[in-house]
Amino acid sequence: MPGNLKLPRNLPDFEQRAQHQLTERVWAYLAGGSGDEHTLRSNAQAWQHIRLAPRALCDVSQLDTRQRLVGHELAAPILLAPTATHGLFHPDGELATLRGAAAAETLLVASTLSTASVEQIGAAATGPWWFQLYIQRDRGFTRELVGRAERAGASALVLTTDLPVLATRDADVRDELGATPGAVYGNLEGLDLGALAARGQRVDNPHLDPGVTWADLEWLLSLTRLPLVVKGLLRPDDAARAVAYGAAALLVSNHGGRALDTTPATALALPGVVRAVDGAVPVLVDGGIRRGTDVAKALALGASAVLVGRPYVWGLVVDGANGVRAVVDVLRRELETAMALLGAPTVADVSEDLLWPGQ
Ligand code: FNR
Ligand code: LAC
Repeated sequence: MPGNLKLPRNLPDFEQRAQHQLTERVWAYLAGGSGDEHTLRSNAQAWQHIRLAPRALCDVSQLDTRQRLVGHELAAPILLAPTATHGLFHPDGELATLRGAAAAETLLVASTLSTASVEQIGAAATGPWWFQLYIQRDRGFTRELVGRAERAGASALVLTTDLPVLATRDADVRDELGATPGAVYGNLEGLDLGALAARGQRVDNPHLDPGVTWADLEWLLSLTRLPLVVKGLLRPDDAARAVAYGAAALLVSNHGGRALDTTPATALALPGVVRAVDGAVPVLVDGGIRRGTDVAKALALGASAVLVGRPYVWGLVVDGANGVRAVVDVLRRELETAMALLGAPTVADVSEDLLWPGQ
């Protein structure tokens, strides 16, 4: 970060700064959504449209944003969602993201499609991190990858369920990113794409398997002792099924509007999942979270925590680990302010009655 440039004060300003620092191609990959981007737009808009009902005259002189989640103590209910190939966004890639996450006392969910391998991530990690899995068509390779992540020190597994195939992404010129530095998958070097092609399988999306089913979730649970978080659920019936299979937590997500277009904003899907789960496991949510008030609204709707994707990547682009930390700190400070103005001194106090009735 050049000395004369101060860090942005809010996430929209980080977004603007990051856009100026990236090539058009890499920006299109980061910012883009699927189809006509209805879901991408509605994610952020849905949080903005929710109205709040602040309590009067509550003592908010002591605020506490800490949250325990799946055995971890976080400084705030804000985690870093898995995003691919951080090497596209910063020379140190995920290793810088990890440093920023640790400095902000939160955790990174490292993607299967990370630039750095799980071994490099595990060696660099100074705090907890989770591993997001795309089940590969080669189940033997998948089993080994889960074992590698466990041995590298991942403390939870996150199974992504909403991208059996790559969605239609007109703006995303990912396949032309191949030559871009950092556009490599550090975890998949051993994957034999030739074998896939030999079996006549589509290899246009070699890292996704359209054949994954609930039986694979059950198989995964038999493979690992790590808690399993199921990511990409929107339907209450799927949520209840994931809990019945043994999920340790659920992440309500539409992939940041990058999977099936015209699915509802996660803010709209969240309440149905919370009702279906009925407190059995923590429910997390991501998609369009850009302000501390968005975090407060997610908590009031029953989420135990939120994840952000693009925002911390903007921070990574702008100032590496320091930028990632700054983004999380901005969001946490805004959450503290929102909690104070709501009359809710702790995360547990951010309850449904803080949502304006009848909306
Ligand atoms: C993603 N996301 C994603 N999800 C996942 O399970 N594995 C992955 O590898 C990726 N890769 C990825 C790359 C980029 C550039 C983006 C923007 C997103 C989805 C991500 O985990 C998360 O669901 C959304 O990004 C959350 O929405 P916001 O915060 O970006 O609006
Ligand atoms: C994406 C895939 C890689 O959203 O998850 O780009």
